[in-house]
Amino acid sequence: MTRGGIVYKAAMALSGGFLVVFLLVHCLGNLQLLLPEPIARPAFNAYAHALGGSVVIKVASVLTYGSIAAHVLVAGVLDWRHRGRRPSYAKTPPGRGLARSMSALGAVTLLFLIVHLQTFWYRFHFGDIALDAAGRKDLYGVVLVAFGEPWLVAVHTLSMVALGLHLQRGLPAAARSLGIYGERPSALVARAAPMLAWSVAGCFAAMPLYIFLWGAR
Ligand code: HEM
Repeated sequence: MTRGGIVYKAAMALSGGFLVVFLLVHCLGNLQLLLPEPIARPAFNAYAHALGGSVVIKVASVLTYGSIAAHVLVAGVLDWRHRGRRPSYAKTPPGRGLARSMSALGAVTLLFLIVHLQTFWYRFHFGDIALDAAGRKDLYGVVLVAFGEPWLVAVHTLSMVALGLHLQRGLPAAARSLGIYGERPSALVARAAPMLAWSVAGCFAAMPLYIFLWGAR
């Protein structure tokens, strides 16, 4: 592999790794939504309010958007480099099928993210939303209304299948790019990658489904 190729692969692995950390923290924070409503509403609104005012979170937020931009841009560059090298009449070389499906799964996740940010982030920061009993923006109420909409629940849960597959394949690839193993993944990576991938995707898919089926409890 060329030096440029190694740098691009490392950039994909590092930006992807940061995004996995973001997903873990985001998922754990959002699990509050599954608590009984009298506890969940004040807790979730206070949590969102506190995050909004924290400098650490502002820095983490910039890093998150930077990582998303880097991950998408470098994936585009890698795809373009591979296309340039492969004559149109040649058969798809081994590994390219995987790279192509990773791009497609990544694109679904990106489309999901656009809908997701419009539904929650945009409304929370720029929308005219009600206040709760403590005078904080009622983001919990926004989530409850959103996950009462069948199409949004479908978008959120089906996109998590794409995210799970993307992570299941991306995590071992990232570990390999960072030199954690050579030709074949170690038993630990081979076992931990699908577990982590489907824990994250399952955690995110459970929230809209739970709220849609049982509402606030
Ligand atoms: C179904 C489970 C999810 C729920 C309930 C949820 C909820 C939310 C809410 C309420 C916000 C706005 C909070 C704020 O701006 O302070 C938000 C922001 C965000 N969400 Fe989610 N989310 C979920 C899944 C996901 C997934 C799967 C991804 C990524 C693939 C994601 C990526 C983001 C990003 C990037 C932001 C903006 C964060 C920032 O501005 O720093 N979320 N989410």
